[in-house]
Amino acid sequence: MTVLEAIQKSTEFLAKKNVESPRLNAEQLLAHLLKMPRMKLYLNFDRALSASETDALRELVKRRGQREPLQHITGATSFCGFEIAVSRAALIPRPETEMLAELGWNFLATCHSSLVTALDFGTGTGCIAIALAAKSPHAKITALDISPEALAMAKTNAAQNKVAERIEFLHGDGFAALQTGPQFDLIVSNPPYIASAEIATLDPEVRDFDPRGALDGGADGLDFYRRLAAEAKIFLNPAGKIMVEFGDGQVDAIKSIFENEKWIVEVVQEDYSHRARILVARRL
Ligand SMILES: C[S@@+](CC[C@H](N)C(=O)[O-])C[C@H]1O[C@@H](n2cnc3c(N)ncnc32)[C@H](O)[C@@H]1O
Repeated sequence: MTVLEAIQKSTEFLAKKNVESPRLNAEQLLAHLLKMPRMKLYLNFDRALSASETDALRELVKRRGQREPLQHITGATSFCGFEIAVSRAALIPRPETEMLAELGWNFLATCHSSLVTALDFGTGTGCIAIALAAKSPHAKITALDISPEALAMAKTNAAQNKVAERIEFLHGDGFAALQTGPQFDLIVSNPPYIASAEIATLDPEVRDFDPRGALDGGADGLDFYRRLAAEAKIFLNPAGKIMVEFGDGQVDAIKSIFENEKWIVEVVQEDYSHRARILVARRL
């Protein structure tokens, strides 16, 4: 079988299994297997696959057909240009969240104190904390999560990206891990925000492979915004900002939650699909 035939057969199989963008997935799996950039496949359409390559590809395509996320199969994803290892231990970083990280490092660049600090609440793979640390060389980042498995992954990712020495990792339930402690210039969070009952309706890639604790935002999906709005203030510098990502259709509820807790909502940022996605607020 040639590269082109392998792509065509895999695409057909994945389409039957209702995988979104089946051709792209087929190409990415084959590129991963052959350890070449995807575009290089196009220069190698006539290359014959060996028997062992064909077997290995069949196995990868079968896993993807069972709706295992592509990133779990390849073991990594890219976030703001940084390679982030992924597994079932933590949520796969989403492209929308890159915008949150970017807003975060742009704000940190405007902070001129001798020690600039940020808290990543619910760090998961560590993607936001790592991007903040890498893009803000003068900043010290604290990354907290309730999941020890996610934290272990975040530490590995930070080390791989050579920013581990500027990130402190804390295990705990929300702000409890910080006690009365520090005041940050920035608190950033992409918390769990799916309503509990909705989780069963999500795509299998999310429902069956992202950890439930990274998805479940309580009965209406808003539990973590209530907690952040009520509890974050004492951990934020008077001139600091909080930036939170949220889901589709949640903007009005989240604005009210923050305003009722006497935050000043400065910006509601849309994502690339023009959906309200990030709220930026400061203390009154
Ligand atoms: C939606 S994921 C976001 C992960 C990562 N920041 C990202 O954007 O890809 C939410 C994270 O919050 C963590 N989390 C859930 N409940 C928590 C709690 N009570 N305290 C701290 N972290 C919590 C989860 O373990 C998960 O890693």
